[in-house]
Amino acid sequence: TILVLDFGSQYSHLITRRLRELNVYSEMLPCTQKLADLTWKPKGIILSGGPYSVYSSDAPHADPAVFELGVPILGICYGLQEIAWSLDNKNVVSGEKREYGHATVKIQKHSGKEAHIDRLFQDLGEDLEVWMSHGDKLSQLPAGFEPVASTPNAPFAGIASTDRPLFGIQFHPEVTHTPKGKQLLSNFAVTICGARQDWTMEKFVDKEIERIRAMVGPKGQVIGAVSGGVDSTVAAKLMKEAIGDRFHAVLVDNGVLRLDEAKTVKKTLTEHLGINLTVIDSTDLFLGRLKGVSDPERKRKIIGNTFIEVFQDTAKSIAEAAKDSPKAGEIEFLLQGTLYPDVIESISFKGPSATIKTHHNVGGLLENMHLKLIEPLRELFKDEVRALGTNLGIPEELVWRHPFPGPGLAIRIIGEINEEQLRIAREADKIFIDEIVAAGLYRKISQAFAAVFPDTAKAVGVMGDKRVHGKVVTLRAVETTDFMTADWYPFEFDFLKRVSRRIVNEVDGACRVTYDITSKPPGTIEME
Ligand code: XMP
Repeated sequence: TILVLDFGSQYSHLITRRLRELNVYSEMLPCTQKLADLTWKPKGIILSGGPYSVYSSDAPHADPAVFELGVPILGICYGLQEIAWSLDNKNVVSGEKREYGHATVKIQKHSGKEAHIDRLFQDLGEDLEVWMSHGDKLSQLPAGFEPVASTPNAPFAGIASTDRPLFGIQFHPEVTHTPKGKQLLSNFAVTICGARQDWTMEKFVDKEIERIRAMVGPKGQVIGAVSGGVDSTVAAKLMKEAIGDRFHAVLVDNGVLRLDEAKTVKKTLTEHLGINLTVIDSTDLFLGRLKGVSDPERKRKIIGNTFIEVFQDTAKSIAEAAKDSPKAGEIEFLLQGTLYPDVIESISFKGPSATIKTHHNVGGLLENMHLKLIEPLRELFKDEVRALGTNLGIPEELVWRHPFPGPGLAIRIIGEINEEQLRIAREADKIFIDEIVAAGLYRKISQAFAAVFPDTAKAVGVMGDKRVHGKVVTLRAVETTDFMTADWYPFEFDFLKRVSRRIVNEVDGACRVTYDITSKPPGTIEME
């Protein structure tokens, strides 16, 4: 395992990501991690970049034990400064010119006794295209170090110790703007640290099933909510593989799901995946509480709180029923489909006083029900979850499903929700998504849906010979990689024409169709 210590750079998580792509297993922990608290010994350590200056009084520093462990260390950007600082804290100065963006570094060659310091740049050529992002630089080399790469503005763009396996680089190998960065990370992790390249999805499944079984014990039971989305389905299938029917999945129909969604999810999870599932239809309860509510934040709260209430009641009755089973014990665990980016979000280093919190959006459930959290996907990125899903035999259309928000259609119906609005939103959404699938665009688009404008904003239309006032349906489709920023999808006019014609003809009460051409920012993906 390669240990990545995170000093708060926006790129830190990409380091672990690249290592996984090299089939090298790695774990990222906050830079303040005490090595004595680790139960394993890393084969090598990478110190990430970060927004601080090592010489400022509030700058974070690594546990001194990091430098005494004797394993190879690679410092990236802030990490390089941190190595220099830990050896001799006078070497780092603020650069007179901040350096951002593309740069070409010249790789130097050493011979004889010093040849080993070139291993980091092995097989990368003489000139390396890199992505720089830093303000500080070394004013002089720490004792025992030699430069191994340089630019006109940064004579110490890459440095290495002649007597210890310590390396530092001023640029970011983890971003795709450094095209040979992955090779550099491979040189460090595989060649220098000797890390094994044996991390595969099959291995992950075996290891995780073992871990779940050990954690839950021979009789323990687990409960978890499923939504039909990829994360909860993959997590549920993994639990099913590990502990069979001692995992209880719960699907709450909150009345704001898409057309036939509860039915379809039930069929896939029970018939195709063999998961022990309880479906609770709470449509009336949810819609009753949402009646007359038009503020989006209140809608979200009502749906969130009602969900917790329903889930808790269901869990109680499942636990009661399960008690009678001679084979099983108490329900002790709650399953969460938390992914690595959420974990990073909650553990990443945000300043000297940052507290580390565990990520979950079900805090209340854990406390009220005395449950422990089980998060089998916490080491994975989204595309790895998809690969795992495929590996576990989950149908392709589910593995590639667009995300759907917890508050469902409630935040796609602007203003108050009523049965008619729900019907129009559902029918229009179905037509839009069906057409996207038929056009072969579903995977290219990250998220797409139909939303409806409030009853107070009806538009006029002429249908047959009559003027009618009908609903305005608005379509939204975006491309994004991280859902933080997004671009609207440039459909062909013919496609939009077809969808629009179908919606006004087939959806009773819909009289106008618009397409939302707002990017995020300034817009958001959802309508409210
Ligand atoms: P926005 O609208 O913030 O959406 O650009 C970004 C992503 O988050 C989803 N989203 C939600 N998911 N509860 C959820 O579970 C919510 O309240 C919520 N609001 C937005 C949205 O679908 C998109 O994928």
